[in-house]
Amino acid sequence: MARITAGVGTSHVPLLGVAADGGKDRDAYFGPIFAGYDWTREWEKGEKPDVVILVYNDHASAFDANIIPTFAIGTGERYKPADEGWGPRKVPDVIGDPDLAWHIAQSLILDEFDMTIVNEMDVDHGLTVPLTMMFGAPAAWPVKVVPLAVNVVTYPVPSGNRCWALGEAIARAVASYPEDLNVQIWGTGGMSHQLQGPRAGLINAEWDKRFMDRLIGETDELRHVPHLEYLRETGSEGIEMVMWLIMRGALGKKTRLLHRHYHVPCSNTAIGHIVLEPET
Ligand code: DHB
Ligand code: FE
Repeated sequence: MARITAGVGTSHVPLLGVAADGGKDRDAYFGPIFAGYDWTREWEKGEKPDVVILVYNDHASAFDANIIPTFAIGTGERYKPADEGWGPRKVPDVIGDPDLAWHIAQSLILDEFDMTIVNEMDVDHGLTVPLTMMFGAPAAWPVKVVPLAVNVVTYPVPSGNRCWALGEAIARAVASYPEDLNVQIWGTGGMSHQLQGPRAGLINAEWDKRFMDRLIGETDELRHVPHLEYLRETGSEGIEMVMWLIMRGALGKKTRLLHRHYHVPCSNTAIGHIVLEPET
């Protein structure tokens, strides 16, 4: 039986990909950011997950204003890094797991989550930067990936409660897969940031840290944080954090903290990272 053994939350700031690809990840500016991922890189070597369900958002790379799927699951064999304006990142292709992905798609849809199924798409920094942060620069990524894309760009975006419930449904889907697989689920995006307008550069460390606190243990308070609170307290792009709630929902009633990291600044944002285990 497949099982979800851990959840990882992380920001996916594109500048971190630029830093890693350009060999600047240990310089004075980026060093403290990347140092917070050292624990996780070591831990992942021991955990050796077979598959990561990687919850992320596409930033107008694979989807644009023509097609806006609320929740999309990648069922492809492989995904290429997207060209986001400076050419595709020179990182390995992302290898999918079509059998598991189709199983999850079927389970979710019969569980009344009407997923969009995507066989072919490129994946942008939302997906490739978390892989870099967790695995560095290997010749091939050490895990298969089931991409799960969430619309957090164009309103209406899904509620925190719906995201959490989707996570719960993903846990049921994985538990009903007959193959013996070690599966992790990652939630990416955030933390507080606003990239445009009069409040560009907004960072709210206090709110971000309280968000991370509430991913740990038994509370499900975050289910009920309204969009307006994310907008007001964490800037226009802070809403990406609802994707962490899909990860949290998939870990079940209670979680145990393995590692956390928070750093300001990174580009115009705060970055956060957390590693959690389901606690039964
Ligand atoms: C930036 C872009 C993102 O998608 C994000 O999540 C954080 C920061 C940026 O352009 O700096
Ligand atoms: Fe983003």
